[in-house]
Amino acid sequence: MQAVILAGGLGTRLRPLTLNTPKPIVPIGNQPFLLRQINALKEAGIRDIILSVSYQPTVIKEVLGDGSDFGVSLKYVVEPAPMGTAGAYKFAGTHLNATAIVLNGDILTDIDFRTVIEKHKKNAAAASIVLTRVDNPAAYGLVETDENNKVLRFLEKPKPDEIEKLNIDTINAGIYVLEPEVLKLIPENENYSFENQLFPSLLKRKEKFYSYIAEDQYWIDIGTHQRYLQAHYDLMSDKIKIFQLERNKNYEAADSAEIDDRSYLAEGCIIGSGVKIINSVLDKNVIIEDGAVIQNSVIWKGTKIGSQANISASVIGLECSIGKSVVIASSSVLGDKTILANVNIQL
Ligand code: GDD
Ligand code: MG
Repeated sequence: MQAVILAGGLGTRLRPLTLNTPKPIVPIGNQPFLLRQINALKEAGIRDIILSVSYQPTVIKEVLGDGSDFGVSLKYVVEPAPMGTAGAYKFAGTHLNATAIVLNGDILTDIDFRTVIEKHKKNAAAASIVLTRVDNPAAYGLVETDENNKVLRFLEKPKPDEIEKLNIDTINAGIYVLEPEVLKLIPENENYSFENQLFPSLLKRKEKFYSYIAEDQYWIDIGTHQRYLQAHYDLMSDKIKIFQLERNKNYEAADSAEIDDRSYLAEGCIIGSGVKIINSVLDKNVIIEDGAVIQNSVIWKGTKIGSQANISASVIGLECSIGKSVVIASSSVLGDKTILANVNIQL
């Protein structure tokens, strides 16, 4: 069994974070995101992994290497320009000789891949797709199935009025199992989409296209600021089975600093006196000066937050310098190396 991870998108909705850090390696719990998928694949006994990349491939390779550090073999297939989801899978075709599990490279999940593969084999399917339920399906591919889990309809991001009429809450979770014969249905050297082209074509041809609904299993697409933060909140409240944070104390904190049990600080952080850190993740070498309050936020490596500053529900990129008494309120996202001057509070 092989795996293909589709990791060539531009990560536009996560900008400015993805300007220097492509989406596959944005930190989640202070580790490159794709490491989660790689570990989950390894758990399922899949060690032959192809990363389909296009945007900033060298940066990704520098971080993940050949996979030997993680006990897997990683091969990179670099598209000259993004070829679409199915186009990317076709482009990786020369490396594919068996049934493959194909993953969108931006989903964080504890869905058990072994079960997914077993169901695919039991159904003798040409293609299988994992579905999950979400409250607001508008941002996803909606999938209608019958009582035998056969896929009946695939509608990528339908308009809100269409969604109301459809009454479908099962969406494409971005996990597929595909037989090599599916490759033949994708044109060579063409931008081609699973969602808009291949799946509708499988249905038209009446191929054996099955679904597996993952009930009560954690799933999130981390591709927007709000969901990136949500993934961290879920991680800190231990909602993700395969992914627990190992909280260590390799940082320096003043005695009067208050750090709650959920928060996770990487090594080299320095926390000043009177600081409060609530439900937040701080990556390596973050400095928080006296009296600052950090809540519900994620702070990337090497950033400094000045004294009395107040950061809430925000993401602060690499090596930023936030001045004294600056207030960064809900849902702000600051790109790498942002400098904000001190605020002089005159009483
Ligand atoms: N190699 C490569 N080449 N990868 C690509 C390309 C490409 O041209 N285009 C997109 N990808 C990768 C992205 O990097 C991402 O990991 C994955 O394919 C999905 O792309 P997104 O841009 O994140 O799509 P989406 O989130 O709007 O929608 C997709 O995912 C939803 C679930 O999260 C669709 O598959 C929806 O149907 C699905 O519900
Ligand atoms: Mg996505």
